[in-house]
Amino acid sequence: MNVFGEKDLTDSPCIGICSSTNLGDEICIGCKRTAQEVIDWNSYSDQQKIAINMRLRKETSILTEMNVTHWTAPVSTNENDQAIDAIEQGRILHFPTLAFQLLPDENEFLSPSFAEIKAKNISFDRHTQRLRCAKCPAEKYARLKNMLQRFSEQAERLVHGLLTPYAAALQLGRTSFRPVEIAGRLSSYRKDDTRLHVDAFPATPNQGRRILRVFTNINPNGQARHWRVGEPFAEVVARFLPLVSKQWPGSAALLKWLRLTKSKRTAYDHLMLQIHDRMKADLTYQKKVSQQSIYFAPGSSWIVQTDQVSHAAMSGQHVLEQTFYLPVTAMVNPTLSPLKTLEKWTGRVLT
Ligand code: SIN
Ligand code: FE
Repeated sequence: MNVFGEKDLTDSPCIGICSSTNLGDEICIGCKRTAQEVIDWNSYSDQQKIAINMRLRKETSILTEMNVTHWTAPVSTNENDQAIDAIEQGRILHFPTLAFQLLPDENEFLSPSFAEIKAKNISFDRHTQRLRCAKCPAEKYARLKNMLQRFSEQAERLVHGLLTPYAAALQLGRTSFRPVEIAGRLSSYRKDDTRLHVDAFPATPNQGRRILRVFTNINPNGQARHWRVGEPFAEVVARFLPLVSKQWPGSAALLKWLRLTKSKRTAYDHLMLQIHDRMKADLTYQKKVSQQSIYFAPGSSWIVQTDQVSHAAMSGQHVLEQTFYLPVTAMVNPTLSPLKTLEKWTGRVLT
């Protein structure tokens, strides 16, 4: 392991899901080595191990590396096309050297003591200029808000410049600061982000809109944010859609009337919530499904549509995140959206 908690290129790529040795597969569903490479691994030289690991990382990575180093850097048309194509295919846009610079007097905010007890995040609403779940002395409040506002503006400029076809339709959601270590955090299974899931929220139906998030790791101690990423959305649907329970007629109106949801929970929201919950509840699935680990280093950023990409955050502390919502009609290829995928499977209009 290196300082970022990543495996070294001479380490075995095994992730403990071994189908070549257990089931006799020619290619292991866990690490993607050939059966022969698994058997012979310990007899290989360092050079052979490095060559295999490099090949596997290239073949299997869900990351599309973007060479953008400034939040406002001009982007070529080629990069625009590559970014849109990758993000709609359910890939993660990774910016290894795109860092968010803290001002000297903002370093003090890198402490969980600024978040309310039990809160995962401090969130900021640029429209109302309010912070939520922050435990911040009055004299520091404006500076904390300023840090989130600055990040939010930079994230917005990045997505507008990079994902240009979306720019006019993107809706700005919350900004969040996550100063609490993920590993060891206690929560109910539904709120447990260390379990693979696609994002769906009980109180805030998104009615088919895409959830697009920009993350940046601002950890000052060299600690990476460790994610697991699971199977493609269509495979998640194939597995869990047959298991979902019915949405009771009238329940959406009742939830809205009781103010348990902020807007109407559509059939789409109901299915996404059910899939989210069933993924998290299934511990065998969590362990056995084909998946990869990703370590996002400090000073790096990434963009991901978390309604489509099955993800789990395993460890890490101190990221900033900006959420955007995107109507499916603004996508270049709407058929790739979770909404259209679910409508195809169910044969129904879901919003
Ligand atoms: C999540 O969206 O599940 C959490 C991601 C993170 O905080 O890194
Ligand atoms: Fe999530």
